Order: sequence, then C-alpha cells, then structure tokens
Amino acid sequence: MKTNVNVIEISNLWVHYGDIPVLEDINLTVEQPRDLMAIIGPNGGGKTTLLKVILGLIKPSKGTVKIFRESPAINRKHIGYVSQHSTFDFDFPISVWEVVLMGRMGHAGLLKSYSKEDKLKAYNALNIVNMVEYKDHQIGKLSGGQRQRVFIARALTTEPKILLLDEPSSGLDTHMQGELYDLLSKLKKKMAIIMVTHDLTAVSLHVDTVACLNRKLFYHGSKEIPREDLEAAYHCPVEMIAHGVPHRVLKDH
Ligand SMILES: Nc1ncnc2c1ncn2[C@@H]1O[C@H](COP(=O)(O)OP(=O)(O)OP(=O)(O)O)[C@@H](O)[C@H]1O
Ligand SMILES: [Mg+2]
Repeated sequence: MKTNVNVIEISNLWVHYGDIPVLEDINLTVEQPRDLMAIIGPNGGGKTTLLKVILGLIKPSKGTVKIFRESPAINRKHIGYVSQHSTFDFDFPISVWEVVLMGRMGHAGLLKSYSKEDKLKAYNALNIVNMVEYKDHQIGKLSGGQRQRVFIARALTTEPKILLLDEPSSGLDTHMQGELYDLLSKLKKKMAIIMVTHDLTAVSLHVDTVACLNRKLFYHGSKEIPREDLEAAYHCPVEMIAHGVPHRVLKDH
C-alpha cells in the first residue's frame, strides 16, 4: 500500500527580523501526491521569507522545518529555487547555456569543470522548458518570459523533488503566463511545486491548493479561501484586493 510522504513539514514556526515578527506560528504540511500550491498575500507579508526558511537560508527563531523528515541543510539538494528578482547583470555577456549549467555548480564545485553528466542534465532541463534552440543566445537578449524559462531550467538541473518559485509570472504577458502554467502543470507530475504569486486569476485557473500569508498563514489544504481569511490577511475587504476573483478561490463570493 502506498503511504503518503510529507515533503515539507513546518511546525509552530516563527521568524523575527530583529525584534519584529515576520512569520508567526506557521504550520504547513505539503504531502505527496504532488500538487501545485500557490502562496498569495500582500507585499511584505512574509512570502519570500517563508521560501527562504524552507531552503534553510533563514533560521527560524522558534519551531521546525523538515524537508523529507530532515533539516533543510541536509535535504536542500532536493529543492529547486527560482528567486523573486533574479539578480543578474543582463549586460554581462553570458549565454543561456552557461546560466543553466550554473545550476550544476553545487555538483561540479566552483573550481572543477562540468562533467558529462552535468552537461546532460543541463541540456535536459533546457529541453523541458523548450529553450534548447536559444542555448547559445546571450541571456540579456532574451525576452522576460524566455529568461524566466531559463531560470526555471537552471533550477531543474539538479532534478529537484520540490520546486519553489517566487513570483514567476510577474512581468509576463498573458500568453507567456499561459505557457508558464502549462509548464508547471507538466512539472508537477514529477515534483511538489510552491509558487508565490499576486496573480489571483492564475490561482483560480491553474493551482490545486492556495495559502494566504500575512505574518500568519491561512491554509485549508484546498483551493478555497474563506472570505474572512482573505480579509484578515489583507486587512481590507476582499473587493478591494481583487474584483472579479473567481468563485473557486473565494467561497461565498
Ligand atoms: N533581511 C531582512 N532584514 C530585515 N527585514 C526584512 C528582511 N527581509 C525582509 N524583511 C522584512 O520582512 C517582511 C517580509 O518580507 P518578505 O520579503 O518576506 O515579504 P513578501 O511577502 O515576499 O513581499 P513581496 O510581495 O513584496 O515580495 C517585510 O516587512 C520586510 O521588510
Ligand atoms: Mg517577496
């Protein structure tokens, strides 16, 4: 019989920057079978902080985070991460291929050269995001949507079991967003995906579960967020944050 595996387990987690609490008593379990989960919430609500805690880049002041029952330090290798603002000097003459290969750096080591396996995995990752033909292009000369695909490919080179994406759809036009969500629904068959987004329409159309975060996490393991939760998280009536939020996201809308 197949038993469920807890991919991520967060219990009674608190994070402070100085004396200020940014995350308060967060509890979240992400299980297999795998879903595409969205985290929504206002600016400054702690979404990026939560992803960094999952990655083990920020230490909680209280509580625990487990990735496949171990600490993030041990199991970070199973996580692929696409950060919110890819800090890159886009004038720097570096090719798509080099950017994707960088995802293998942890395996190759800073001073070692990339192995055949590194190159094969980088190629496969580019293939998954449909960007092989841009392999030799300079990263700075791609469109925002194409660049986003390259950064996803870079995160995929380690064949992660968990993929964290911080606002991957920002700056993309509707067509490119559609392509991104098609890609994510393909990828979710192989890995758990958590995506931070402000795009509530996408949430209603493309994700399986949604959590709302504003210091506290409002999550019911489903795609519906009760109106009270959204209002509590955003500190304002729902109508003000998203007119026309589809019914599947908002109960009693
Ligand atoms: N390194 C830091 N030092 C001090 N405070 C920080 C630090 N990083 C974030 N914060 C603060 O913590 C809070 C949460 O920030 P975070 O970046 O996690 O929010 P977010 O939900 O990702 O916001 P956005 O939607 O704007 O990306 C904010 O008030 C922010 O100013
Ligand atoms: Mg953020």
